[in-house]
Amino acid sequence: MDRPLILKTFHKGKIKEYFVMPKGDLHTDLGIIRLDELKAKLPGDMISSHLGFDFVIQKPKPPDFFRHAKRSGAPMMPKDIGQIISSTGLSHSDSVLDAGTGSGILAIYLGSIARKVVSYEIRDEFIDIARQNIALTGLSNIELRSGDMVTEIQTLDEKFDVITLDTIDAARIVPHVPGVIYPGGYLAVYSPFFEQTKEVRNAIENTNFTEVKTIETIEREISFSDRGTRPSTSRVGHTGFITIARY
Ligand SMILES: C[S@@+](CC[C@H](N)C(=O)[O-])C[C@H]1O[C@@H](n2cnc3c(N)ncnc32)[C@H](O)[C@@H]1O
Repeated sequence: MDRPLILKTFHKGKIKEYFVMPKGDLHTDLGIIRLDELKAKLPGDMISSHLGFDFVIQKPKPPDFFRHAKRSGAPMMPKDIGQIISSTGLSHSDSVLDAGTGSGILAIYLGSIARKVVSYEIRDEFIDIARQNIALTGLSNIELRSGDMVTEIQTLDEKFDVITLDTIDAARIVPHVPGVIYPGGYLAVYSPFFEQTKEVRNAIENTNFTEVKTIETIEREISFSDRGTRPSTSRVGHTGFITIARY
């Protein structure tokens, strides 16, 4: 199967990048790029447009899929994904249970580290989009399952090291997590609103978890210019709260 590539060039002080498949022609304001030529090239090689602009070829990583993959809804932001990965200590031997899949962006990051990811999505049309996105990464350790996690988790006879929930009804899933998590495993719940977060905290309190914390991760990019150096004035605002609990 053909895999996408990133083409990148620096023009007029800005990086221009394209997420492309190695076929057909790409028409850009810097000229036409014959994408079939990519088949004979490797990441790190250059490809030129017909106007003579050079583009470096890169293999896409999860942040590229966050920026360029097809979306069904709002994918989780890398800053929040990073928080989940660090707080759960996700490693190559871990199995992860994830819901809902959405565009599959969190699942792609998790699958790039963990041994296995099983991700549930309630809407079939979203699974199709996520399946296409995941196929483009070449990852073979992410299994997508169709279903409502609230009921599916009650019939599962597998256990997982890490459970990630990014669904509006996460508080209804939490009481069933002990049945599918290894002792010492981590639960990570992403909730956009205080109200959902409080529901999740209540559900966790009524279950046998320890080491519970809720955090908001704030990202402040620093801008560099001739005028000076300071936190960027256009920044990512609030995204969501992350509640971590250990079983
Ligand atoms: C915010 S999106 C998840 C985004 C995903 N984490 C990503 O990074 O692309 C929430 C998804 O959960 C799905 N969903 C909501 N309730 C669900 C449930 N009970 N079981 C499975 N999926 C559910 C929704 O259809 C939606 O696609």
